[in-house]
Amino acid sequence: MVRETVLTPSDFVYPLFLHEGGKDEAIPSMPGCRRWSLEGLVGEAGEAHALGVPAVILFPVIADELKTPEAVECANPEGLIPRAVRALKAAHPSLVVITDVALDPYNSDGQDGLVRRGEGGSLEVLNDETVKVLCRQALCHAEAGADMVGPSDMMDGRVGAIRAALDGASHQDVSILSYTAKYASAYYGPFRGALDSAPKDGDKKTYQMDPANLREAVRELLLDEEEGADMVMVKPAGPYLDVIAALRNETTLPVAAYQVSGEYLMIKSAAAAGWLDEEAVVLESLTGIKRAGADVILSYFARDVAQRLA
Ligand code: PBG
Repeated sequence: MVRETVLTPSDFVYPLFLHEGGKDEAIPSMPGCRRWSLEGLVGEAGEAHALGVPAVILFPVIADELKTPEAVECANPEGLIPRAVRALKAAHPSLVVITDVALDPYNSDGQDGLVRRGEGGSLEVLNDETVKVLCRQALCHAEAGADMVGPSDMMDGRVGAIRAALDGASHQDVSILSYTAKYASAYYGPFRGALDSAPKDGDKKTYQMDPANLREAVRELLLDEEEGADMVMVKPAGPYLDVIAALRNETTLPVAAYQVSGEYLMIKSAAAAGWLDEEAVVLESLTGIKRAGADVILSYFARDVAQRLA
């Protein structure tokens, strides 16, 4: 009667990995998750949706031979993501399909943006050139029928540019889930293993945020609001509850939080060793994220939790 925070299946977005193969494949760095075939993806998303999960977000494994320095494959209308979006929307019209907008799966450098190498081998990620490519990628996803695009690249100005590009192509109904405060986090390790998308050299610290900064997250929020974001996100979630709370206080937009691969893996591996009670810890971790102020939670546990709550 006096409980303040209650989880429901409709709180969740279910992140799903997909690949070209005809078979669903286990992901060693993320036990319990798979790289789905198109058919497997449609089935898994349908089951989660039937349990009350309103949305999925898609992450593609791109073959090495399709990765280039210009990441051209990211805007191929016949690429893996557009085909997956069409298949999902055809099979489950009421499922909200969100796509990830960033270049890392398509870029032979493994960075979220285009890269220029300087004289001494120094590496520079090109903000404005990247934003143009991100707009093409977002348009390609919208043409395929995506309901929402999620720029996770952290380039400056991309939300406004993507909004203008979508509006200019009559996609004013496609929403933007902005990765507003995405930290340069070591918790993404298992995800990069799942997609084979780790940066070839260097790190992502020139565009992802310093884990030590909170005020900067509010600054990013104000920019995203002005540029037209429909939902703002904090990522990772568990170690950044204060950031979630700050954004919740500063905005009237819905706030999402991403319980990332490393947070998932810590619970999974401790539970596999018999050291933690998986069900209890999963619910406690997600309740904490919602209590901090998240309206929406992206979690690899989404389907399991929806099943238990049902
Ligand atoms: C890349 C992207 C990353 C994640 C989502 N989109 C990794 C990164 O920035 O290196 C991480 C998700 C997770 O760890 O679960 N655009």
